[in-house]
Amino acid sequence: MSVDIAPPITAPTLTSNPLRTGLRIERSPAPCAMVIFGASGDLAKRKLLPALWALNEAQQLPPGFSIVGIARSELNHEQFRQQLRDSITHDLTVDPTMLDTFLQGLFYVPGTFDQPDMYQRLKQVLEQIDRERGTAGNRMYYLATPPSFFPVIMEQLGQAGLVSDAATGAGWTRVVIEKPFGRDLATARELNRVVHGVFDEAQVYRIDHYLGKETVQNILHFRFANAIWEPIWNRRYVDHVQITVAEDLGVETRGGYYEEAGIVRDMLENHMLQLLTLTAMEPPVSFDADAVRDEKVKVLRGMRPFDLQRVQSDVVRGQYGAGWIGGKAVPAYRQEQKVAPDSQTATYVAATFYIDTWRWEGVPFYLRSGKRLPKRVTEIAIQFRPVPQLLFGPTDPNVLAMRIQPDEGISLQFEAKVPGPTARHRPVAMDFRYGTAFATAPAEAYQRLLLDVMLGDSTLFARRDEVEAAWTLVAPILNTWAATQATDLPNYEAGTWGPEAADQLLEASGRRWRRP
Ligand SMILES: NC(=O)c1ccc[n+]([C@@H]2O[C@H](COP(=O)([O-])OP(=O)(O)OC[C@H]3O[C@@H](n4cnc5c(N)ncnc54)[C@H](OP(=O)(O)O)[C@@H]3O)[C@@H](O)[C@H]2O)c1
Repeated sequence: MSVDIAPPITAPTLTSNPLRTGLRIERSPAPCAMVIFGASGDLAKRKLLPALWALNEAQQLPPGFSIVGIARSELNHEQFRQQLRDSITHDLTVDPTMLDTFLQGLFYVPGTFDQPDMYQRLKQVLEQIDRERGTAGNRMYYLATPPSFFPVIMEQLGQAGLVSDAATGAGWTRVVIEKPFGRDLATARELNRVVHGVFDEAQVYRIDHYLGKETVQNILHFRFANAIWEPIWNRRYVDHVQITVAEDLGVETRGGYYEEAGIVRDMLENHMLQLLTLTAMEPPVSFDADAVRDEKVKVLRGMRPFDLQRVQSDVVRGQYGAGWIGGKAVPAYRQEQKVAPDSQTATYVAATFYIDTWRWEGVPFYLRSGKRLPKRVTEIAIQFRPVPQLLFGPTDPNVLAMRIQPDEGISLQFEAKVPGPTARHRPVAMDFRYGTAFATAPAEAYQRLLLDVMLGDSTLFARRDEVEAAWTLVAPILNTWAATQATDLPNYEAGTWGPEAADQLLEASGRRWRRP
């Protein structure tokens, strides 16, 4: 809440409950087994297994930690281990003894997800792991599969007796569900219904890997571990907020997936709304999972709904045509593999959001995301109101820019006097860079998130009501776009900052997009 009058200075309060203090000093999970459904897939190979190996190298995994891979290929345990060994040993710094010990904890169960018999074989392997490696019935199921398999896997896990609850005292069971969680409000609700037929909400971890990024978590630390920002973090001082998630890549080999998804499902509904809620939320009463998520849900509920008229006036859709990026000619979206030649799929979106709350009434939040923009950059920029009087002539606005990736850091732009006998000034910046300040590269997002699941900490995962509120918000955009043909696609050249209509969205109120 904003305060204009300085309160008396008092010592900060720390309570004895570590959750209330937000301290997570000792993070050592109990021994457990992780089952990866879709162990031969792109996500498992590129993200999950490397993150687990990195956790192992950092000695953050519990003793006896075991991985069971599941996919259709007929592999045995040893062949599965060899695949991972081959993907790791090109790194000459790897300690061979450590790798051997880690690989002994890898197991593989071949089968298809709808086969009850496969779950019985999985059960036997898990029981053997419990006996031999001391995992005590603690299980984490990771659904790294195409989303169409999420329901059948959960139902089969339930029917096979592979889900324990706290009452049975047979160890914990947790399930991690990859994005996309549904493809609209109805399918998200249906998926939640299936999930809750088998698991309690406390056992469910809906992952959005953006929340595993250090720079995203730092939004909360920046806001709530410093005293100077909160008094100005509101409609009285903030003119508007811009959130940009730009990619220079096109759809690469994922044209089939993207035709179904498009930019709203791929970026806006999840990653971008996460950035927005963390930026706009009220201070939580503690740093525990539900307290933080309660505040995020309140932001989503406070957001002005879109109707047909608002989708037409406040939302811009775009699709890239051919162009140039980094000196190379690149094809139009409609020429990409597995993309229809007359595709209506949006690869760019820009939209104005309003949060109708005491703190943010009247402050526009401009969000934009696109593929084949000039560079890869994610940032949140808070632009402050102008000074009330121009004593020294026109000024540039103060802007606080949180750079999520790359070049992670935060900069504050302000006006400074140009040296010399005149009263001229120009914008300069105070700049914080992670790399320089902490001299260490941030860990991969999946490392943090996998560890949190093992620890039973769901703060950085989406709750049921949060996912449904996000779909409710974007549903009118998806529905309106599905019902109306865009006749101007493609409407931006690859390598540019998006369609002209996106510039007009801000120009109407005398503002303009940043060029990060
Ligand atoms: N890849 C990414 O960067 C990324 C990023 C964010 C989210 N995600 C999400 O993560 C999930 C997995 O994506 P992905 O890219 O890794 O998919 P993928 O490469 O297509 O992998 C799918 C996995 O499922 C297995 N599989 C498919 N049908 C099966 C069946 N009927 N029975 C048993 N196994 C089956 C495949 O194994 P076999 O073919 O060997 O059977 C493979 O291991 C998706 O929900 C995706 O949206 C992915």
